[in-house]
Order: sequence, then C-alpha cells, then structure tokens
Amino acid sequence: MSRGRLAVLVMAAAATACAPAPRREAVPAAAPPAWQVRARGGQVAIETGTRDLALNDAAACRGCHVGIADEWQHSRHGLAWTNGIFQREYGPAPKPWCVNCHAPTTAQQEGLAIGDDRLAAQGVACATCHVRGGRLVAKARAAGSPHDTVVDASFGSPAFCADCHDFTFPVLDGAGRAVAMTDHPMQSTVTSFNAGPYAREPAGCLTCHGSRHDHAFPGGHAPDMLAGAFVVSWCRRAAALEVELTNAAAGHRIPTGDIHRHLLLRVWRSSAPAGVWEAFFGRRFEEAEGGGKRTVWDSGLDPGASRRFPVDLAALADGDPEADPAEPLNLELTYVYIADEFPRRDRIPSEPGTASVVRWREPLAAIPPCAPASR
Ligand code: HEC
Ligand code: HEC
Ligand code: HEC
Ligand code: HEC
Ligand code: HEC
Repeated sequence: MSRGRLAVLVMAAAATACAPAPRREAVPAAAPPAWQVRARGGQVAIETGTRDLALNDAAACRGCHVGIADEWQHSRHGLAWTNGIFQREYGPAPKPWCVNCHAPTTAQQEGLAIGDDRLAAQGVACATCHVRGGRLVAKARAAGSPHDTVVDASFGSPAFCADCHDFTFPVLDGAGRAVAMTDHPMQSTVTSFNAGPYAREPAGCLTCHGSRHDHAFPGGHAPDMLAGAFVVSWCRRAAALEVELTNAAAGHRIPTGDIHRHLLLRVWRSSAPAGVWEAFFGRRFEEAEGGGKRTVWDSGLDPGASRRFPVDLAALADGDPEADPAEPLNLELTYVYIADEFPRRDRIPSEPGTASVVRWREPLAAIPPCAPASR
C-alpha cells in the first residue's frame, strides 16, 4: 500500500474519530404506563399502592358501579380464583407463582397468607386492573367522576392485557416461586394478535372482548364466542368426506391461552364408534434445558386460516360404508379446557372440562357433495 493511500486512510479514520460524537445525553426513557408495575409473566404480585378497602375491595366499587360489577363478577376474571378448572389444577400443587395472576394483588395475597380468602376470591378484580399507587387508573376520566383518576391512554390496550395474557414459561424454585422467566412461550395470545389482521384495530382486544361498559370479557367459556369462532364444514367426495375447520372470528390463533386448551374434531359412524376419525388442534411441549417447556408442535389455526382433511369412509367402519347410506354419520367439534378431557375420579370437576361446539348427525346422502373446484 502506498504511503499516500495509507495517509488517506489514516485521515479518514481520524475524520471518523473527529465526527461529532453521538449525543450521549440519556434520551429520557419513556415513563412506564401508569398501570405497569411489573414485568410480564407474574413474577411478583400487583402492588396497588394502598391497603384501603375502599380501593382494594370490589364490593366497595359495586356500590356505585352495579352494572359493571355484575358483569365482572360472572366473567372469568371475576372467577379467576374460585373456578373449578383453576382450583383443580392449583389445589393439589399450590404454587405462589399462580397466585400472581389468579389473585394478583398484594392485598389479596396478604389476606391469603393469614387464611382470609375474601379478597382473593374476587380473582382478577377492579383493583387488579384499575388501582395503582393508591389512585384509580383509566383511559379517560368522566366529568362527574369522584375519583382522583390517573388518565393513561394505553389503559386497556393489548400491551395492558399482555401483563397476564402473554408470557413465557417460568423457572420455579422449590417453593413454586418464579425466580426467572425462560424464552419459551407459555401463553402468546397478544403476540399472535399483533402478528395478525386485527393488530390495527383501534380498540385492540376490546374489538371482540367487550367495551368500556362491558366487563364480561367473554372468551373460551362463552358459547356464542365459540360458535362464531370455529366454522366447520363437511362434504362428500367419492369414497371420502372432506372436513374443514376455519378460524373465522378470533383475533389470534385458536386455541389460544392456557397450555392445555385444545380442540378435537371427530367423525364416526353410529354403528362403528371404534372407527372414530380424530384431528387434534393444540400444542405439545417437551421439557427444555434450563427450565420451562419448548413447544414442539402446534396445530392451532391463525386468524382466517382453514385446514381441510380427507376422511376415508371405509376406515370409519369395517364393512361397506355405502351398504346403508341412510345410516347417520356423526361429527363433533369439542373444545377442551383441561389436560384430561374426561374427569378422573379423584378430580371431580365443579364445572365442565369441555364444551361441545358443533354436533351433527346426518345420513351420508344428506351431506352435500364437495364443490368440484376445491382440491
Ligand atoms: C361513590 C360512588 C363511586 C364509588 C364507590 C366508586 N365509583 Fe368509580 N365512578 C363513579 C362515578 C360517578 C364515575 C363517573 C363515570 C360514571 O358514572 O361511570 C366513576 C368513574 C369511574 C371510572 C372511570 C374513570 C373516571 O374517573 O371517570 C373508573 C375506572 C372507576 N370509576 C372505577 C371504580 C373502582 C375500581 C371503584 C372501587 C375501587 C369505584 N370506581 C368506586 C362513582 C363511584
Ligand atoms: C381485566 C381488567 C379489568 C377489570 C378486572 C375491571 N376493569 Fe374496568 N375497565 C377495563 C377496561 C379495559 C376498560 C375500558 C377502557 C377503555 O375505555 O377503552 C374499563 C373501563 C371501566 C370504566 C369506565 C367505563 C366508561 O363508561 O367509561 C369503569 C367505571 C370501570 N371500568 C369500572 C370497573 C369496576 C367497578 C370493576 C370491578 C367490578 C372493573 N372495572 C374491573 C378493565 C378492567
Ligand atoms: C391481572 C391479570 C390480567 C389482566 C391484566 C387481564 N387478564 Fe384476562 N384473564 C386473566 C386470567 C387469570 C384469566 C383466566 C381466569 C380463569 O378462567 O381462571 C383471564 C381470562 C380472560 C378471558 C376469558 C378466557 C376464557 O377462557 O373464557 C378473556 C377473554 C380475557 N381474559 C381478556 C382480557 C383482555 C382483553 C384484557 C385486557 C383488556 C385482559 N384480559 C387483562 C388475567 C388477566
Ligand atoms: C376479532 C375478534 C377478536 C380479537 C380482536 C381478540 N379476540 Fe380473543 N377471542 C375471540 C374469539 C372469537 C374467542 C373464542 C375462541 C377461543 O376461545 O379460542 C377468543 C378467545 C380468547 C380467549 C380465551 C381462550 C381460551 O383459552 O378459551 C382469550 C384469553 C382471549 N381471546 C384474549 C384476547 C386478547 C388478550 C386479545 C387482544 C390481544 C384478543 N383476545 C383479541 C375473538 C377475538
Ligand atoms: C402470568 C399470568 C398467569 C400465571 C402466573 C398463571 N396463569 Fe393461569 N391463566 C392465565 C390466563 C391469562 C388465563 C386465561 C387464558 C385462557 O383462557 O386460556 C389462565 C387460565 C388458566 C386455567 C384455565 C381456567 C379456565 O377457566 O378454564 C387454569 C387451569 C390455569 N390458568 C391454571 C394456572 C396454574 C395452576 C398456574 C400456576 C402453575 C397458573 N395458572 C399461573 C394467566 C396466568
């Protein structure tokens, strides 16, 4: 390399060195939203910043907000601690980590510690979402409000819901406390929503899950939500049926949420129930090194997605399926909330562990032929 060339390089380097240094003043970090008092995943309780029962107890809010309180009380949020599906899983192996989302506030947990579950029984309650630093937090303050309300535009946004609805597997210590979070997704409802066609909806999750006045937050336990979300169709093609499931109305993958959620689509002949055909929609996991579980298989459906299956009629029965064309075929789509579809004797559920979403029974001749255009 010539000296001249080297000099140019040195000068270039020097010029770089002399270029105005990147601004070092700390860009003021955006203040966290008023509702945000912990990282996702429920490693710690939610601190409402007050022990005043007028703010921590839903019964105190009910006095003036009867309609909202009634809706909330029957919602899964209101039932988050007491419902049989949760208690069945939590009861035999109680872990403090679980409490951080199912009875999340410090006031609720202080009660539990002295054997008083009155506040904990309120589950995800008014204060869980609305009280921080001893004040109310909301998206807007009404003119006639008696509250010293902190207004936060991101209240109720998908990021707000993500506090409990989007998190990775924890690493638990011997006492069941989350000492760290892994990178392995456990619930990813918000991530799935953000990647899908509804991400730009200004009302976010509330587009489908309630509104300002609606605190029912219907979901997987609401028959009409399920009926709209899953569209099933079947048709006849030669010696096979074609069965299709579509995620028609959910703003995220189906199933979503809890790791045990899954769907079973089944077709069988009344005369040969043992020949049942079945498709499983859900996730499978394996233990991951360093803690938590890795998703090794996920057959859920993204928003708008469909999956179509051929079902061999001959396989449904030993004999000739056409022998009695009047014999009904059965189709059922079952939504399963828990790990074991069928209740075990030692774990009697206080509410159903499954919901039947679609149930058809038709003679083969009554099932429409498939459109020639489809594959
Ligand atoms: C003494 C009656 C009263 C009690 C008790 C009460 N509220 Fe309110 N609250 C109101 C009124 C009036 C408004 C104005 C808007 C409306 O009518 O809903 C309001 C508004 C709100 C708002 C909207 C934000 C605002 O400031 O306008 C939230 C959120 C709220 N209340 C939550 C609660 C919670 C949570 C509790 C219990 C910790 C509670 N309220 C207890 C009367 C009450
Ligand atoms: C899971 C979180 C959550 C829980 C639990 C909850 N809220 Fe809300 N609340 C919201 C959201 C989200 C909104 C709507 C924000 C917006 O305007 O987009 C809201 C809005 C409100 C409003 C304002 C309604 C209006 O007309 O503007 C009141 C009042 C209120 N909540 C009271 C309560 C009371 C009382 C309880 C307990 C009985 C309660 N909330 C429980 C999340 C929650
Ligand atoms: C503090 C934690 C927390 C926050 C914040 C929260 N949720 Fe929940 N949510 C829960 C828990 C826990 C359950 C499940 C309760 C149960 O069934 O045991 C639940 C249940 C639900 C369900 C019903 C699921 C079903 O199986 O039927 C819907 C829908 C829902 N949440 C939507 C929302 C939306 C939308 C937001 C944001 C506006 C939100 N949640 C904020 C904790 C939270
Ligand atoms: C376009 C409508 C739509 C949007 C937007 C939407 N959801 Fe849903 N969601 C549904 C429907 C329909 C179901 C019922 C089907 C099911 O349970 O899988 C559902 C079910 C759920 C469930 C219950 C899952 C279960 O295990 O039973 C939760 C929790 C939930 N949604 C949370 C959210 C959150 C959080 C957001 C925002 C990030 C959101 N949803 C956005 C339509 C929507
Ligand atoms: C970071 C928050 C969080 C933690 C921690 C958490 N959960 Fe949940 N759990 C949720 C949310 C959100 C839902 C609702 C999702 C859905 O509907 O599928 C839920 C739903 C459930 C359900 C289904 C309830 C129903 O109504 O069908 C069971 C069972 C459950 N959780 C058990 C547990 C147990 C046991 C632990 C502790 C090992 C735990 N959860 C810890 C957030 C949490």
